[in-house]
Amino acid sequence: MAELIDGKALAAALRAEIREKTAALRARTGVTPGLAVILVGNDPASTSYVTAKERALAEAGMVSRDIRLPADIAQEELLRIIGELNADSAIHGILVQLPLPRGLDEAAVIHAIAPEKDVDGFTPVNVGRMLLGEPCFLPCTPHGVIKMLEAAGVQTVGAHAVVIGRSNIVGKPVAHLLAAKRPGGNATVTLCHTATRNLAEITRQADILVVASGRPNTVTGSMVKPGAAVIDVGVNRVPCADSPRGWKLCGDCDFESVSRVAGKLTPVPGGVGPMTITMLLENTLQAAEQAAEQRA
Ligand code: GUN
Repeated sequence: MAELIDGKALAAALRAEIREKTAALRARTGVTPGLAVILVGNDPASTSYVTAKERALAEAGMVSRDIRLPADIAQEELLRIIGELNADSAIHGILVQLPLPRGLDEAAVIHAIAPEKDVDGFTPVNVGRMLLGEPCFLPCTPHGVIKMLEAAGVQTVGAHAVVIGRSNIVGKPVAHLLAAKRPGGNATVTLCHTATRNLAEITRQADILVVASGRPNTVTGSMVKPGAAVIDVGVNRVPCADSPRGWKLCGDCDFESVSRVAGKLTPVPGGVGPMTITMLLENTLQAAEQAAEQRA
């Protein structure tokens, strides 16, 4: 049976450190890290992510400015709000929860965020800096995945890492970070996607398998090399008659069969999710520290 990589416990330990650093920053400079969290529309999954982020910010001693906007907001109005937040010295980070409702231009909205407040690491400036190996805000989920592998003692150097999914938020950046010449990197990376032929043949070669397809049961036990480390990035709501809510969360892997073959595996929930939020806290603290330094 695979050893579970406990993202919740790792996140709790890291959050305790972040809380201390946040208090120290406030004591030293009077600055309290502030994050504007923008949710457009009322998609239930996005609402629950945003609520979890706001709770974590409060627990870390940070301030969140909760901005809820209607799904039919005009693009210009959203851009105007982001522009105001860019100029607001109490706000060190700006997060626009994705995906945005139909009719809004996601790229244009992300481009409007000042790079020094882009704690998601989604703007072209941050993505470019990441690819060049320059100091930047790393995107939260990919960074959390790397931290989990490191904490679980998974050796990435020279390993064959296979990533399933090529999204801007997870697949592309995590493939880059695994390949990069940096701690937690130096792997040989194969990036698989919907046009990949013989997916199982490739995944069976993976020492490290990162699954970010956004689809339940993308990976089953027979697709996994015995002993491999499997990171399941998926968060899917599937119908469940036993749950009072009528649904339960599952990842992109078939947990039952994969756990019988993998050496290490992240559960869903309690795996990558808590680490994503923790990396958001880390970036928000970093943004506030940088702002405080510039002011001094
Ligand atoms: N949607 C899914 N993951 C993320 C994330 O890390 N940040 C934002 N802003 N939206 C998301």
